[in-house]
Amino acid sequence: VEDPRLQGISAAIRVVPHFPKPGIMFNDITTLLLRPKVFKDAVDILVDRYRDMAISAIAGIEARGFIFGPPVALALGAKFVPLRKPKKLPGEVISENYVLEYGTDCLEMHVGAVQPEDRVLVIDDLVATGGTLCAAIKLIGSLSVEWKASVYTCGVPPIDMI
Ligand code: PRP
Repeated sequence: VEDPRLQGISAAIRVVPHFPKPGIMFNDITTLLLRPKVFKDAVDILVDRYRDMAISAIAGIEARGFIFGPPVALALGAKFVPLRKPKKLPGEVISENYVLEYGTDCLEMHVGAVQPEDRVLVIDDLVATGGTLCAAIKLIGSLSVEWKASVYTCGVPPIDMI
């Protein structure tokens, strides 16, 4: 049975055709943020789902993972680790390049922000090609010898990445 909150969340996301390039259907979550009840539903669904999974770190992907990640981190009592675009973090970083629907980019994380014993939940607003998420998983996975990753999205079963 689908969570009744998902329909409201889906309806609150504006789809903008041909942005930022022709052929791209841009899912704009800023319209969801204008509706506090729906924004809270989106955060609550994640908090409920991960509450009993001993999550110790939330890694938020720039930029929209910085919107949804911190409220989830606070509710779970986990630390928040920003995965940033290049040359934004002042300390020593590890980097991972990736291919986007519209270009290439790179994610960076501060060395030491995530420890091998951490259980990390990566948060972003959406998956398109999966390139960004794969880069985040590689960044975090490179810190530990033994690791596994699963992807949870609204309304479908988890997908095992490795
Ligand atoms: C968007 C989105 C995801 C990524 C998904 O970010 O917020 O991070 O693309 O695409 P993918 O699955 O094909 O990798 P964007 O690259 O627009 O960066 P921004 O949030 O900094 O604007």
